[in-house]
Amino acid sequence: MKISTDYKTDNYNIYVEDNALNKYLTEYTARYSSVFYLVDSHVYQLHQDILLSSIDAPILLSPGESCKTVESYARTIEELIERGIKRNSLIVAIGGGATGDLAGFIAATILRGVDYIHVPTTVLAHDSAVGGKTAINVPSGKNLIGSFYRPQCVIMDTLFFNTLPDDELLSGYAEVFKHAMLNSEEEADRLMTLHNKAIDIDRLSESIEMGIKTKLRFVNKDEHESNERRYLNLGHTLGHALELNNKLFHGHAVMFGMLYALYVSNQLNQKDIFDVSRYATYFQSIGLDFSKIEDTAFEDLLKYLLKDKKNTTENLISFVLLSNYGECYVKDLSIEEVKKYYTTFNEMLIKDV
Ligand SMILES: NC(=O)c1ccc[n+]([C@@H]2O[C@H](COP(=O)([O-])OP(=O)(O)OC[C@H]3O[C@@H](n4cnc5c(N)ncnc54)[C@H](O)[C@@H]3O)[C@@H](O)[C@H]2O)c1
Ligand SMILES: [Zn+2]
Repeated sequence: MKISTDYKTDNYNIYVEDNALNKYLTEYTARYSSVFYLVDSHVYQLHQDILLSSIDAPILLSPGESCKTVESYARTIEELIERGIKRNSLIVAIGGGATGDLAGFIAATILRGVDYIHVPTTVLAHDSAVGGKTAINVPSGKNLIGSFYRPQCVIMDTLFFNTLPDDELLSGYAEVFKHAMLNSEEEADRLMTLHNKAIDIDRLSESIEMGIKTKLRFVNKDEHESNERRYLNLGHTLGHALELNNKLFHGHAVMFGMLYALYVSNQLNQKDIFDVSRYATYFQSIGLDFSKIEDTAFEDLLKYLLKDKKNTTENLISFVLLSNYGECYVKDLSIEEVKKYYTTFNEMLIKDV
């Protein structure tokens, strides 16, 4: 399936299907005199014999997040220059969101910008590959150096998902689910029917298509994240705090964060629009481990909550909340309010799940 972006100019295609890499890559690489492949080394090891057998002289990056360092950025740039990269070359990034973020930032900056393509190999990267954000980390924080830079296309070959560990699969699915909540109750119900009791890899393409289209809807309105794009952070305020404090996979933490945001939304709306217990039971049934957040003291999360990038006022914490499915707003809550809801939210989880 092909999805196209809907910007005023510089649009690109996003392909999502089995065998997409072999089907579409050469159509793009043929337009360039030289092509450089930046590949997650773990993904290369798993797929070099079949899916990546035609990839010529890849530059292997350390797997996952460990490639998003200033050192790895500089080292890879040196290697590309040594190999003779030119302004009219193409960079192809093959790996998850981390590979895409590093390669995208290299493409945006090397020789003041060369074209690039992302071949996402994780479910989570349906999110990161779309929207044009690129970034690397520094010791004081994640994604603090980066740019907005659009790829020439995104080729999501769903055959890569067959080697994804269950935890990574669930982590990526969390963002698909988030996109459904930003749409409608029907989309959330559809996901729960398609992926009932377990994530069904064979039926992920259509769910990912919904996720990508939703993300594009927000990004098209607000590419540089001053308004609507912030809503894509649903579940990410408490989520990030739990991710860092409890060392959780990103998406697992976002699932807990989403439950909390829905719970707080119900409290502030003064009616139970969202059946939080139902979603909690569903997340647990597809593998979310609630014991990982048991007994987490609010005080341990607070330092992370106060550092959330969305915050604009001292001692207030910004949350993306929903007045209904698909109807988002950003609300600043006091520490006392966040703590009060955190306590009653935990009591509800213990009682119901
Ligand atoms: N740019 C954006 O808009 C944006 C949005 C969301 C997330 N991100 C970034 O994305 C990154 C997370 O991405 P991710 O979750 O895709 O993880 P990742 O790239 O860190 O990969 C996670 C792990 O999965 C492995 N892996 C990748 N593909 C595999 C496959 N097919 N089979 C087996 N193993 C495989 C990797 O080697 C790594 O160990 C973070 O750095 C985050 O900041 C960026
Ligand atoms: Zn996320």
